[in-house]
Amino acid sequence: MQEQALHEIQNASTLEALQAVKTHYLGKNGALTSQLKTLGQLPPDERKAKGAEINVLKTQLEEAVTVRQKVLEEAALEQKLRSEALDVTLPGVDFPVGGPHIISRILSDMEDIFARMGYRTVHGQEVEEDFYNFDALNIPGWHPARDMWDTFWLTDNRLLRTHTSPMQIRYMLEHTPPFKIIVPGKVYRFEATDATHESMFHQVEGLVVGDNISMADLKGTIAELARGTFGPRAKVRFQPSYYPFTEPGADFAVWWENPRGESKWLELGGSGMVHPNVFRAVDDLREARGLERIYEGKTGFAFGMGPERIAMLKYGIPDIRYFYQNDLKVLEQFKGELG
Ligand code: DAH
Repeated sequence: MQEQALHEIQNASTLEALQAVKTHYLGKNGALTSQLKTLGQLPPDERKAKGAEINVLKTQLEEAVTVRQKVLEEAALEQKLRSEALDVTLPGVDFPVGGPHIISRILSDMEDIFARMGYRTVHGQEVEEDFYNFDALNIPGWHPARDMWDTFWLTDNRLLRTHTSPMQIRYMLEHTPPFKIIVPGKVYRFEATDATHESMFHQVEGLVVGDNISMADLKGTIAELARGTFGPRAKVRFQPSYYPFTEPGADFAVWWENPRGESKWLELGGSGMVHPNVFRAVDDLREARGLERIYEGKTGFAFGMGPERIAMLKYGIPDIRYFYQNDLKVLEQFKGELG
């Protein structure tokens, strides 16, 4: 039994197996324990020697179990440490982090530039009424200039705004000059899409109304925007143009050397002095609502431009459709730092 028991203890490969061996020999009903119990049946002269022999064996087995237990415990700890080991030299897990869309960034930069010049940012509504989008802006239903804006018509004389200009009317109705506002937002055109046309894009409208506002103020403002956007050496140029809600009207372009070393005049938007008919339409509406006529004799300028166009020029993006296809390969290039 001694040999067998020592062999089993030595070969127990787990703590559980060792415990089983220990119970088998040394437990309450174990093989050795039951031998001790039979001592009483032996003749007294044999009893003493046999008792001593069993006790020696018991101590020997207990010690063997203790030694084996230590070995197994150390092995188990070793195994646990190995399985929980952390290799701090492995590359980390890169969690995908989003960022503002390139157009949101351009818009917020523009808002900052205009805020420094004392402009307030306001927002209009994307579903507009015919009246605000056209009529009040000196574009009656019969006017051929309506063809300048291909329109998504809804029901009941409503439409998806084709430009941010209707907010000029809405703002003037509710506010007393002098004021300076910009209106960033989405606009919609019922157009075939191509590299330079999308059916949805953004505009930033500007409107300044007060006393003795002149074309020189308009020029200075646009020049400041161009320098803020394209750097201190950017120049602006105005060219006569036609918009029903301005008189005179002008398109503006910037001259700027881009990082690819090209420089030429790039058309950015439309502008002009607010047409007297626009002021009149607002006063008529105010009068119909029982409000004072306050726009007669006022002067103002307005402008409208597309941030997609600015982004395309600034970063050399060749196709306006890239902005809204949600291709991460495109968008991630302009993610920038979290902001
Ligand atoms: N609303 C015009 C457009 O969508 C852009 C524009 C031109 C806005 C001249 C203006 C302006 O305020 O004065 O094409």
